[in-house]
Amino acid sequence: MLLLRALALLTLSLFSLAISVTSTNHWNITNDVEGSVRLNSLAFQQHALHTFGDYQYVAFYKTASGYGKHYVNLGRRRIAPSVGEWQYFAFTDYEQKTLDEHNTISLGISADGKIHLSFDHHDVPLNYRVSSSGIAKTVPEQWSASAFGAVQHSLPGSTGPWTKLTYPRFERTANGDLLMEFRIGQSGAGDSYMHRYSPTSGQWSSVGKYLQGEDNNAYINGITSAAGKLFVSWTVRETPDASTNHDFYFAVSDDDGRSWKTSAGQSVAKPITPSSPGVRVYSIPQNSEIINQEAQCADEKGRFHALMRDKSSGTARFYHYLRTASGTFTKTAINVPGLSTPPYLAYRGKIVAVGDTVIAVLPDQPKQTVTVWGATAGGNYQDWKSLATIANMAGEPLVDYERLTRFGVLSVFARQGGAFGTRKLQVWDFGLQM
Ligand SMILES: *[C@@H]1O[C@H](CO)[C@@H](O)[C@H](O)[C@H]1NC(C)=O
Repeated sequence: MLLLRALALLTLSLFSLAISVTSTNHWNITNDVEGSVRLNSLAFQQHALHTFGDYQYVAFYKTASGYGKHYVNLGRRRIAPSVGEWQYFAFTDYEQKTLDEHNTISLGISADGKIHLSFDHHDVPLNYRVSSSGIAKTVPEQWSASAFGAVQHSLPGSTGPWTKLTYPRFERTANGDLLMEFRIGQSGAGDSYMHRYSPTSGQWSSVGKYLQGEDNNAYINGITSAAGKLFVSWTVRETPDASTNHDFYFAVSDDDGRSWKTSAGQSVAKPITPSSPGVRVYSIPQNSEIINQEAQCADEKGRFHALMRDKSSGTARFYHYLRTASGTFTKTAINVPGLSTPPYLAYRGKIVAVGDTVIAVLPDQPKQTVTVWGATAGGNYQDWKSLATIANMAGEPLVDYERLTRFGVLSVFARQGGAFGTRKLQVWDFGLQM
C-alpha cells in the first residue's frame, strides 16, 4: 500500500517534471521602426531568428533616418558554449520605404555557411542578397555588410518568374541545401514556387511551381524539413478579403519538394491545386475566422504539428493539428485557462516541437501578452501547461526552431507594444527541462 502510494507520487512528480522553464533571459535588440505599420515580427518570416553552428542570427528593420525609412539589419551572437554579446550591422545601400506589413525580411543559412536574405516584397520583383563566403561556418572576427554581395533580383543559376513576388521563405534540407519558397501573383490569385541552392555548386536551380491557385491562392503555414521529409500545410483564400480563407490542406514530400504525396500516401501531381484529390484534410467554411500563415513544425519522429485558429465551433479557438508519422490527422482545440478568445485577425502564434514535447507560443492580444504553453505526447498533446508569459507585446512572436532542437532553449523574437521610441524588438530565451 505504502509502496503503491510512493509509486503514485513518483508518477505524479514525473508528470509535473515533464516540461518546465529553468531560466528566463531577454535582450533588447533595438527600438522598433518608426512607421504606421508593423515590419518586424510577422508570422510569415521564415526566419527572423535562426541558429547555425554555435551562433544565433537575427534579421530586423531599424529606422535609417526620419519617418518610414528603414535599413535591413543583421545581428549575431555566440550561443555555445556560452551566450555572448550581440553584434549588429546595417545594410546602408538599400533603404526600405514601403509602409506595408508584407514587406518583411527572411533569413536562411545553407550548409556551406552562406547567409541568404530576402526582403521588402509585396507583389514586386525579388530582392535577394547573400554573403560572399560561408561566414556562418568559418566565422570571421569582423561583422559587417562588406561580407555580403549586392542586392540581386534573381537567384543565380535558376529561372524565374521573379515577380510579382511576396512572402519569401527559406528552409534547409537534411543534406544542407537551402530551399527558397515564395508566392508569385497576388492575394486571391497566386502560385507558390520553390528553388534550391546547392552548397556544392554554389548555384540555385528551380524546383518549380508546386502550388497553383484556381482563381484563388494557397497561404502556407510554412515549409518544414524534418525526419527526412518536407511538410507543407495551407489554407486557401478566394479574394483579397481574409474572410474568404477556407479549409486545411496538407502535402508531404520524400524528395525535398520535387514530388509530393497526400497525407494518405498517394502521389499528387505538381502543381498541387485546391482540387487535387486527397490534399484537403479538414473542411472549414469561409467566414470561419481562419487567419492564413499561422504556424507549423515537425519533430524528429516525423510527427507534423500545425497551429491554425478558426471559429467553426461558434467560438474562435487556436487548434493543434497533429499528423502522426503513420498519417493519422487529429485537430484539437487548445483549451487553456486564462487565454483570451482570439479576436478576428488578432496576432498569429507559433508552434515548435522537440522530442515528445510541443510548445505553442500564443499571443493574447486583448491582454497584450505572449503566452507560452507546453504539451507532451504522453498526455496526447492535450496536457497544456503554462510555461511563461511575456508582457507588453504587440506583434507576432517568432521562434528559433534550430536552437530548440539542438540546445533545448526556446528562443523567441518579439515586438513590444508602445509608441515609437519606447517600443523595442526583443529576444527572449527560455531554458527548458523536458
Ligand atoms: C528592455 O527594455 C525594457 C523597457 O521596454 C526594460 O524594462 C528592460 O529592463 C530592458 N531589458 C534589458 C535587458 O535591458
